[in-house]
Amino acid sequence: MFLLFRIFILNTIWLFDGVNCLTDDRKIEDVVLNGTWIDDRFDFDPEECNVANGKWIFNHSIKPLYSDMSCPYIDKQFSCVKNGRNDSHYLHWEWQPEDCNLPQFNPEIALKKLQGKRLLFVGDSLQRNQWESFVCLVQGIIPEKKKSMKRGRVHSVFKAKEYNASIEFYWAPFLVESNTDINIIGDPKKRIIKVDEINERAKNWTGVDILVFNSYVWWMSGLRVKALWGSFSNGEEGYEELDTSIAYNLGLRTWANWVDSTINPNKTRVFFTTMSPAHTKSLSLKLHISITISLTFL
Ligand SMILES: *[C@@H]1O[C@H](CO)[C@@H](O)[C@H](O)[C@H]1NC(C)=O
Ligand SMILES: *[C@@H]1O[C@H](CO)[C@@H](O)[C@H](O)[C@H]1NC(C)=O
Ligand SMILES: *[C@@H]1O[C@H](CO)[C@@H](O)[C@H](O)[C@H]1NC(C)=O
Ligand SMILES: *[C@@H]1O[C@H](CO)[C@@H](O)[C@H](O)[C@H]1NC(C)=O
Ligand SMILES: *[C@@H]1O[C@H](CO)[C@@H](O)[C@H](O)[C@H]1NC(C)=O
Ligand SMILES: *[C@@H]1O[C@H](CO)[C@@H](O)[C@H](O)[C@H]1NC(C)=O
Repeated sequence: MFLLFRIFILNTIWLFDGVNCLTDDRKIEDVVLNGTWIDDRFDFDPEECNVANGKWIFNHSIKPLYSDMSCPYIDKQFSCVKNGRNDSHYLHWEWQPEDCNLPQFNPEIALKKLQGKRLLFVGDSLQRNQWESFVCLVQGIIPEKKKSMKRGRVHSVFKAKEYNASIEFYWAPFLVESNTDINIIGDPKKRIIKVDEINERAKNWTGVDILVFNSYVWWMSGLRVKALWGSFSNGEEGYEELDTSIAYNLGLRTWANWVDSTINPNKTRVFFTTMSPAHTKSLSLKLHISITISLTFL
């Protein structure tokens, strides 16, 4: 993860995702902790500990808070079991920061912190996966009658009624607007991204207490993308082909300017998640490492 503009890194505790089929490519034996390891890490302190500096470790003793069979909200697209995976090794990885020990995720504390608040995830399907994971992490301790889930094509809302808290997802794969936001265009060559337009959809992201954004995988459909921007905007015919990295840079600037001009940092915390492995193929885990490195220098 990398710091972008003036936005904070998403707290890795929240990112912890018990169901991620893809972290399991390495031989488990290679990374099991040596039992005689001397642990000199300090207790977690968000001011002191760089949670982004660490590694995934395998730990048989982990008891995940949910699995894709116990949580009813996981789409088939994100479900290892429903897609035929029959081992459960992937449930036993945990993020270990170099310098400190992360406390265990506690659903009750998380819900108390969200009391009277709205948490909104905005982005693509990887972000929807994060949203579902977060809902799954907390939903297990809420009785059936005290929670609700309303799924929409664009906007979905999970509510924890006793806490008056909502955990929501808003579909916006490029964050900025495009001709493929609502009615998805399969052929990437026909997609046109309006790299300097965001306001119409972003209206629905205001009045939220915690905003978590992501966007990148939809930009990765080729070396160049069709973009509409500034004086080139002349109907959809006025697009220009731009290098993908330039278009992504313009799109993220549009988004960052919207955040700076619209969001009151005293009321709303904003996070941005950069690249993470896609959920479609384990191969992409390796590919995205090189993409991550190249985009860091944008
Ligand atoms: C475990 O750690 C000890 C002490 O550092 C070392 O001597 C030993 O070789 C390690 N064992 C393995 C399997 O890595
Ligand atoms: C493995 O997980 C268990 C249960 O969460 C924990 O008590 C233990 O400290 C972990 N072991 C290591 C080496 O981190
Ligand atoms: C699990 O899946 C693998 C590969 O798909 C298969 O070879 C193996 O027989 C399966 N094991 C069980 C217990 O079903
Ligand atoms: C519930 O939370 C919303 C914000 O999400 C707030 O506007 C409202 O006043 C809260 N209601 C109660 C009864 O606390
Ligand atoms: C977005 O907000 C507008 C009002 O500003 C509302 O009419 C519309 O239904 C909202 N769209 C979604 C998907 O929530
Ligand atoms: C946020 O709070 C600080 C300190 O209380 C204040 O100086 C600043 O003007 C506030 N910013 C906004 C946008 O309200």
